[in-house]
Amino acid sequence: MAGDKSISHRALMLAALAPGTSTVEQPNRGADVMATRDAVVALGAEVDDRGASILVRGGTLHDPAATLDARNSGTTARLLMGLCAGHGLNALFNGDDSLRRRPMERVARPLRALGAEVHTTAGRLPASVRGIVDPPGRDFQLEIASAQVKSAILLANLRARGPVTVTGDRFSRDHTERMLRRFGREISFDGHTIVLQPGVLAPQTVRVPADLSGAAFFITAAAITPGSDVLLREVGVNPTRTGFLDVLRAMGADVESLDERELDGEPVADIRVRYRPLRAATVDGETVVRAIDEVTIIAVAAAHAEGTTNIRDAADLRGKESDRLTTITATLRACGVEVTEHPDGLDIVGGGARLPERTLHAFDDHRIAMAVAALAAPLGDHAIDDGACIDISFPGFAQLWSVAQSA
Ligand code: S3P
Repeated sequence: MAGDKSISHRALMLAALAPGTSTVEQPNRGADVMATRDAVVALGAEVDDRGASILVRGGTLHDPAATLDARNSGTTARLLMGLCAGHGLNALFNGDDSLRRRPMERVARPLRALGAEVHTTAGRLPASVRGIVDPPGRDFQLEIASAQVKSAILLANLRARGPVTVTGDRFSRDHTERMLRRFGREISFDGHTIVLQPGVLAPQTVRVPADLSGAAFFITAAAITPGSDVLLREVGVNPTRTGFLDVLRAMGADVESLDERELDGEPVADIRVRYRPLRAATVDGETVVRAIDEVTIIAVAAAHAEGTTNIRDAADLRGKESDRLTTITATLRACGVEVTEHPDGLDIVGGGARLPERTLHAFDDHRIAMAVAALAAPLGDHAIDDGACIDISFPGFAQLWSVAQSA
């Protein structure tokens, strides 16, 4: 199973800031995390990438000589904009066509409020950041429940002279807060309010759990395919990420979290899933924040459930790697599923899914590509014409998928 993408980004960034050598074990090796690895090298960290682990010698960063290329990775661009803003670094940011369509003002605004000079291109990349050396320490109110915005603010304030309070969160993923604690910082957080105390970072060894967002495709395929019984080990079950498991259970799925334990500051468990018929559910509010990357796979489960599933409060999905409300609607409809698209959600009528007549297209979105694999799992074999995008978050997916199907 691929390592957790969000945790891998944060581990590499804090390792780049902490004076000394840190080790990131079992990192996600997808293209997004590799964009962060290469960016921290451009910012002056020394990196020894051994594959199964990445050693980072950090603490003395400098302005990059060239534009930082975040490629397809929103997390790389947004978090590093925050890091540069609060560490006196001047950098230009760019990305691929998909990333250049995604909103950046949500990060630029709070960084400007801090005193950094940030320019975007009509709210998008390319962007430039002229950082400040000594942030004053002040309070921030989040405009949206976004872990990327929250994390950019925290990274921008690591050198603040006084305590920094961030309010207005609604249980967006708290990996940055946990990783800061792991790297020796005093920080409190409860899903709504964060208080970061002044301090320094100490280098660490961090082992990364398996990514629940990648596991979600295997979990869902097992939940909807008769005869399945799948066990996934050491999967991250941080409560700010498990909205998807809550939804599957509400749909009647047989999903067990076994041997719950902690791995370097993050909760993990072994997850066992067995097939059981599913029923429709309602998915909205804070559950959507806690399942923001799993809405496409929830839609797949809904397509195989009995009844109509209503998803709401998910407008932010329109600003992901693709407009995921539109792209999953097109995918499901191509497979005979009745879907109504709303500005902030979907109504999905279960029970009508069949293999499509034509080869499906994943809109260059890794999560749509993997959702197609899960959608087809109980129906038979189906190929997509642009599966290479899966490498963004889950290299080796296809091999693991065939192993799981033939077991
Ligand atoms: C991420 C946060 C989420 C998520 C993205 C990764 C992160 O985005 O969709 O894939 O690692 O912080 P938002 O916080 O913008 O919702």
